[in-house]
Amino acid sequence: MTIRFTLNGAAVTVDAAPDTSLAHLLREDLSATGTKIGCAIGRCGACMVVLDGQAVNGCLVMAFQLEGRAVTTIEGVDALPHAPLVKQGLAQANAFQCGYCAPGVVMTLVHLFATDPEADEDGIAAALTGNICRCTGYHSILRGALAARTLIKAAR
Ligand code: FES
Ligand code: FES
Repeated sequence: MTIRFTLNGAAVTVDAAPDTSLAHLLREDLSATGTKIGCAIGRCGACMVVLDGQAVNGCLVMAFQLEGRAVTTIEGVDALPHAPLVKQGLAQANAFQCGYCAPGVVMTLVHLFATDPEADEDGIAAALTGNICRCTGYHSILRGALAARTLIKAAR
């Protein structure tokens, strides 16, 4: 089927089987390889994107669901509120090691702080429950998220 949607602010048209996952479509058909695939069953958050203002797992959204929708990936994340400061906070805290989880974590935190810029530590941890990191034990990611929150607060 032919699917038309908006990717990072640009109109795209792709031909794909209806049950092709958005994560696969992004990586294999649209050269948007910043979105990662880990489990492909909605458990790890590596494929997190923002779809019409909601953070969703790209591996669980199928092509037939995309018509007319707006998708933001890590490549276009800076268009979302506070995104550069989220990335800056995570970098300051050396939040990641291998970085495979990083795009998904960034998308989750950008969505969180867009909806709740003053999210507390428990709220941040709750938001990140869908993002698995195999390297860090999460402490550095949490420190980075708190640093991002401080930067966002200072910029307001
Ligand atoms: S690849 Fe989508 S949640 Fe793991
Ligand atoms: S930094 Fe390696 S999976 Fe998170």
